[in-house]
Parts: sequence; C-alpha cells; structure tokens
Amino acid sequence: MASPEGLLSILKERRSVRTYKQKKIEKETIEKLIEFATWAPSAHNSQPWRFVVIEDSKVKVELAEAMADRWMKDLKKDGVPVDERVKLKRESINRFTKSPILIVACITLEDMEKYPDARRQKCEWTMATQSLSAAIQNLLIAAAAYGLGACWCCAPLFCKEEVRRVLDIPENVEPQALITVGYPAEKPSAPVRFPLSKIVFKDRWGEPL
Ligand SMILES: Cc1cc2nc3c(=O)[nH]c(=O)nc-3n(C[C@H](O)[C@H](O)[C@H](O)COP(=O)(O)O)c2cc1C
Repeated sequence: MASPEGLLSILKERRSVRTYKQKKIEKETIEKLIEFATWAPSAHNSQPWRFVVIEDSKVKVELAEAMADRWMKDLKKDGVPVDERVKLKRESINRFTKSPILIVACITLEDMEKYPDARRQKCEWTMATQSLSAAIQNLLIAAAAYGLGACWCCAPLFCKEEVRRVLDIPENVEPQALITVGYPAEKPSAPVRFPLSKIVFKDRWGEPL
C-alpha cells in the first residue's frame, strides 16, 4: 500500500501545461477524464457541471476568434495600443486552436435549491461554481495521471454570450471555464506556493498554527 505522500505526490507534480504535441487523445481517455471529474463532491449532490468537449478544428477556430474579438473590445476600452492587441489576439487564437482538445466547463442551476430571495439564490449559484471547480480540479489531476497536460483558462467567464452562441449552449447554462488538454510539449517548473504561515491560522485569524 503506497504511503499518503506517495499517493498524493500527483497533487504537487501536476502543472498547468500550455503547449501540446499534435497527438490525438483517444475518446475513451477523454471520457475517463470527465468521469473522474464527476466524482467530485457537489452541493446537494446536484452535479451542476456540464462539459462541451471540442475536437473539431472549425469549432475551435470559431470559438477562439469569438473569445478573442470580445477580449480585444475590452482591451481597446482599456486603452491597450493596437499593435499590442493584434499580438495578444494572435497568441490567444493560436493557443486555443493548437490545443488538441478544449473542454468548456459550465454550470446549470437546474437541480439546485430554488429560493425566492436573491441572497440565498446567489449562495446556490456560488455552490454550483464551487462544485464545478472541484470537478475541474479532479479533471486536471486525472489528466496528469494519464500523462496528459491541461490548463484551466478563465476566458469564457469574460465572454459568456459569445461562448454560448458558438457552442449552442442554452441560456440557463453558464460557461465558466475552458480547459485545454493535450500531451505535453513542455515541462513547466512549479510556481512557488505561499508558506503555511501566511495562509493558515489557529483558533483565531492572525494566530499561527
Ligand atoms: C480559476 C483559474 C483560472 C485560470 N485561468 C488561466 C488562464 O486564463 N490562462 C492561463 O494560462 N492559466 C490560467 N490558470 C492557471 C494558473 O495560472 C495556474 O494554475 C497557476 O499559475 C499555478 O500554476 P500550476 O497550475 O502549474 O500549479 C487559471 C487557474 C485557475 C484556478
């Protein structure tokens, strides 16, 4: 029986991988990643996660361009110079279209509790996003276990309408993240983590553990 340290080493070894080999991922492997994602905990066991797996190059291009166009509008408003915008747009489109698989992760409140007031309803929405986050983390760990690289990207949050339009996602389903997946073409080093003394307290805030 492996020690806890041995079993859990994958949690430390997983990295966000952003460049991939142009090697196909088998459908069964993708299904495994999603299945492991669904073993995450979810509020009320509502399993509010939904996934769109994109492999078709045309869909990737359409999605990447729609997201980049929206991003460029925001950057223009921010006053980012045009040559910088052109560069960022090209890089963004390249990144998403060169990823063998894109997984758009969404939430639905379909099976969550329904409340008449906005405060409690907002809590349900938060629980759905928290549940999806747990599922995404499972997916990233599963990808690492299968020798795949993956990166959680926040882009859909900033352009939900564009993502819905390109992927025919219904109005009551909310795109939250995009995960790029592929066999790694890079070996990123581990970004540092804060020491526990900064992030954990005992009994009361500010008291060291
Ligand atoms: C909610 C969330 C959004 C993220 N969005 C992006 C993103 O848009 N682009 C990107 O390259 N990485 C993104 N990341 C990956 C982080 O940059 C990465 O997890 C962090 O730098 C730590 O590196 P590691 O995953 O290798 O430990 C995101 C991660 C999370 C959890």
